[in-house]
Amino acid sequence: MKSFYIETFGCQMNVHDSEKVIGTLERRGLEQVTTPDAADLVLFNTCSIRDKAEQKVFQRLSENKRSKGKIFGVLGCVAQQEGERIFEKAPHVNLVVGSASYPKLGELLVQIEQGERRVTGLSLDSDDTFETPMTRRDNPHRAYITIIEGCDKSCAYCVVPYTRGHERSRTSESVLAEARELASKGYSEIQLLGQNVNSYRDPSPMGWNFAQLLEAVGRVEGIRRVRFTTSHPRDFGKDIVDAMDRTETLCNMVHLPVQSGSTNVLRAMQRQYTREQYMERIEWLKASKRDIALSTDIIVGFPGETEEDFAQTLRLLDEVEYDSIFSFKYSVRPNTPAQGMGDQIPDEEKGRRLIVLQERQRAIQIRRNTALVGTEQEVLVEGFNSTTGQWIGRTSQNRVLNFTVGQQKARDEMIGRYLPVRVTRAGPNSLAGECAIAV
Ligand code: 5AD
Ligand code: SF4
Repeated sequence: MKSFYIETFGCQMNVHDSEKVIGTLERRGLEQVTTPDAADLVLFNTCSIRDKAEQKVFQRLSENKRSKGKIFGVLGCVAQQEGERIFEKAPHVNLVVGSASYPKLGELLVQIEQGERRVTGLSLDSDDTFETPMTRRDNPHRAYITIIEGCDKSCAYCVVPYTRGHERSRTSESVLAEARELASKGYSEIQLLGQNVNSYRDPSPMGWNFAQLLEAVGRVEGIRRVRFTTSHPRDFGKDIVDAMDRTETLCNMVHLPVQSGSTNVLRAMQRQYTREQYMERIEWLKASKRDIALSTDIIVGFPGETEEDFAQTLRLLDEVEYDSIFSFKYSVRPNTPAQGMGDQIPDEEKGRRLIVLQERQRAIQIRRNTALVGTEQEVLVEGFNSTTGQWIGRTSQNRVLNFTVGQQKARDEMIGRYLPVRVTRAGPNSLAGECAIAV
């Protein structure tokens, strides 16, 4: 095996897992190539959060059929969920590995090299986290750091506790060492990752909680921005908001998935909080002296969701005024507590609710973005759009702010810089402006 190709589906955890897998393979002397045709080892790092995501993987597998000597591997959440059934559905697959078994990836590859046809890594009882001496990061300025893997919650709709195993936190020392190393390599933005970052518990004698770790990462020299995702409302303490108030590098944004605005639906979803408890956390965030942008995830059409339940979700959008939302139609998943409830809300009705929700939110976003016209925002420059002639920046609140500069510049003079930009126009999903200084 000399070369590999990897394709990634799903969330940021998966994106970062792939970065670690790439590092592991490169360390073994394999070279990454950009097409499956050119590779000896073809990997799909998969997502099973909704049925559609899962179907995509099987479609990609059928498009890339067996060819002599080529090894096919399925990693990630579909691997964990379907296990050996994948060999039946796609017989050309040789390797099936869930994320809890990635620390064993090296050994599994040796078995393949020794000629084994079918190799699996599906154990969920590992206490290990996936730490490698080498991680291949694509972005030279922004880096992910995993602080906690797995999930101990049991939201009724969700495959994650089943596909990623139980919670394992890294020591604060190892997280901080990685943050310092990244800073020394020139990274200025860090995103702390975990299925539920605020359940973080330092396993070392320090015994830090999430707020303590967050603040310490925010104080690492050379780090200018720290984000974290994702948070569970039940474990979201006021100490996190206090840490944000004290630490300027912690970005002005919190993603706090609500899923539904109805306490009845939240109970059926086993979310472990009520609408009122959720709103209390939103009040803490709004009372902060920082201007914290809020985003959320919402599922429409969970079994039993009535018109009135849905109306409560719409009212919650109006009350919170999120800066952005991710919204989904409920999808029945195997092995989840809600599986037995079936899929009671017809697909057309779910589709209708989704459109109503998204239209309501669009109006809120236009209003919130328009309120920023005339302000100055600091952006991290991420890229250049040659079609529009604008640079692409991201604000602390995670808004995309496209902007122009007085004099045209080369990409490497601009990307990775922090610049003040005056906002001149606003749309539902982005802002436009002009750089406020001569660069
Ligand atoms: N159906 C629809 N959406 C889901 N999510 C998780 N499981 C499901 C499901 N079965 C959504 C939740 C979660 C986000 C990552 O995906 O909103 O926060
Ligand atoms: Fe998809 Fe969830 Fe797995 Fe991420 S953790 S890849 S969102 S199923």
